[in-house]
Amino acid sequence: GPEDAAYVVSLIRTIPDFPKPGIHFRDFTPAMTDAKGLRLLLKALELTLPVPADQIDLVAGLEARGFLLGPALAAHLGKGFVPVRKAGKLPPETLKESYALEYGTASIEIETAAVRNGQRVLIVDDLIATGGTAEAGAKLIEAAGGRVAGFSFVMELQGLDGRAALGDVPVSSLTVMPA
Ligand code: PRP
Ligand code: MG
Repeated sequence: GPEDAAYVVSLIRTIPDFPKPGIHFRDFTPAMTDAKGLRLLLKALELTLPVPADQIDLVAGLEARGFLLGPALAAHLGKGFVPVRKAGKLPPETLKESYALEYGTASIEIETAAVRNGQRVLIVDDLIATGGTAEAGAKLIEAAGGRVAGFSFVMELQGLDGRAALGDVPVSSLTVMPA
């Protein structure tokens, strides 16, 4: 229940001024190192899924931190997993999408054949800030022929309106934190 999610959230570590002055780095990995934390993390993500599990065919994770969560959640739910990687790592054929960073842009890719037409895909990442990464991931799922069923995050940063970038697709997060 809610106390399980609270236990998970209590393990999230904040590192001030990392990797740059003024950034509060939100590190959920202590919740994975702790055996009970990891079990309850998966349970909490399952209980807060943005759509029922039977409306999800595939879980997609966003490199890198979405790779820590995605395969574990996919296995927990009995689904397959598809990696969305930083550009230049996946073999052809791939689709590419760019998104804005604080300074400049970055690109991510998906293997075109990784998603079958019409598959309903849950996109997983540790955190949503501006929503740019998740939005780019969603565009890739759709370009590959899939449909984005929802987004699951552990953390959501306040005041950045990241959800607005994701349109009408249902979004869940375990906790909302100051940016
Ligand atoms: C972080 C985080 C999310 C993204 C959220 O990833 O893991 O993927 O930023 O920011 P946004 O909502 O403003 O796009 P980052 O690219 O820093 O690196 P990593 O996951 O590879 O560690
Ligand atoms: Mg990331």
